[in-house]
Amino acid sequence: MKMDKIIILDFGSQYAHLICRRVRELGVYAELLPYNTPLDKMIDENVKGIIFSGGPASVYEHDAPLADKKIFDLNIPILGICYGHQFIVHSLGGKVRKAKREYGRAELLIDDNRDLFNNFDGKTICWMSHADAADKLPEGFEAIAHTSNSFAAAIRHDSKKIYGIQFHPEVAHTERGVDILRNFVFNICKAEPEWSMESFVDNTIKELRERLDGNVLCATSGGIDSTATALLLHKAIGNRLHCLFVDHGLLREDEGEEVVNMFKELGINLIYIDAKKQFLSKLKGVTDPEEKRLVIGEEFAKVFEEAVKSHGPFNWLAQGTLYPDVIESGISKGPASRIKSHHNVAGLPDWISMKIIEPLKLLYKDEVRKIAKMLGMPERMINRHPFPGPGLAVRIIGEVNEEKLAICKHASKIVEEELINADLYDKVWQAFAIVGDDKAVGVLGDERQYGRIVSIRVVESLDAMTADWSRLPYDILAKMSNRITNEIEGVTWVSYVISSKPPATIEPQ
Ligand code: XMP
Repeated sequence: MKMDKIIILDFGSQYAHLICRRVRELGVYAELLPYNTPLDKMIDENVKGIIFSGGPASVYEHDAPLADKKIFDLNIPILGICYGHQFIVHSLGGKVRKAKREYGRAELLIDDNRDLFNNFDGKTICWMSHADAADKLPEGFEAIAHTSNSFAAAIRHDSKKIYGIQFHPEVAHTERGVDILRNFVFNICKAEPEWSMESFVDNTIKELRERLDGNVLCATSGGIDSTATALLLHKAIGNRLHCLFVDHGLLREDEGEEVVNMFKELGINLIYIDAKKQFLSKLKGVTDPEEKRLVIGEEFAKVFEEAVKSHGPFNWLAQGTLYPDVIESGISKGPASRIKSHHNVAGLPDWISMKIIEPLKLLYKDEVRKIAKMLGMPERMINRHPFPGPGLAVRIIGEVNEEKLAICKHASKIVEEELINADLYDKVWQAFAIVGDDKAVGVLGDERQYGRIVSIRVVESLDAMTADWSRLPYDILAKMSNRITNEIEGVTWVSYVISSKPPATIEPQ
């Protein structure tokens, strides 16, 4: 895509993605690249500025991550943040040393508001997180802001347009962080704001139209990523797009039907495969959580293969990969420990000869949401909580059978309905019911009944990496509990899960 862009070099900061997102929010396309990306792979005529992220290392350690020093001779404005700032000082002949630690809120006193701090006067609050600091500045640099702790909290090389800041403008706690990034991107880099979802959709449709020959297959779950992918492709190639929806029977109540109806309304070809019985019979007797995932993954691949054979040939396979997934695989940070196997991200089998197309691979989730909305995905489906690929199999403890499946579906529906009624559905991350093999005694009328225990799980989270259980009002929990025992036969007890993640995970399996 030909548009002005800002490169963000990732030195290992947990905030690197945030910098990228902030710049995009300003309307300028930003790309996150590993710090050691060769310059010829990084720079083209669209690059108007480079930002170095923070990072956990110390520049003076022997194995510190260092970018190619020729980057300073490119005549492209640079902004270093935290470690990035220290990298500038260290690389250009200054000195960085261990300093008094500065974590959290600090008062930044502006000494020069000519460019990076344009429209600032006096002082502002910024967020610090560092143990090293610049001790001596390289030649040609001057301090343009300080704190009581750092004489060089912000520095500048005037003619080279190289800037360094010790604090993090990308986090919300830095009061005017966005203004600093805005000054850098527009006043210093002179980038044009050409990035918008409208321009992305127009350009992508044009590109897809030119690139895609023959028929395209898009596996869909009805979730936001695969549906947005399908919508973009449909705009580009119309009926040459065929979506494949495998109903494994482990979906939420009525979900299969809703997905089919949505695709009908959107006018997109859908191959619907009813594999409910097949999956259930493969899961018979399987109780181990990882084995369940494996069985479902294998069965999914089999159904997929059969569908490709009977409905193909397809030249292309479309996937709803997002930018964070691409970045994760691009930067080798060593193998993250595998807590659960997510079957739908496990990669493709060898026999697939289709070419892969990933139209969303430059986008963040909130950008995908905007596109889905623009292209007509119903609001209700856009706002649905995330749902795991192996579906209710991970919410049914022990063997998956028809009885437990029916209880899990019905109870989850009640949980969702009561949250919607209380206007809380959109405020929580996920909400569902869990059912296992434990039983407890209840009294139904005058009769004793030995019935199932249903557990309600409602969590709040920003990104599913950590989560806390939702402090729902007691009367809402009471309503959920009453409805579950009244409306679902065979359930005598309802409990509420009060474990956060960590140490628990969101799903029970
Ligand atoms: P956990 O249970 O690991 O879940 O805290 C984190 C998030 O991932 C979802 N999840 C899955 N998603 N396939 C998926 O596509 C899976 O196998 C899977 N397991 C968990 C879970 O719903 C939560 O949002």
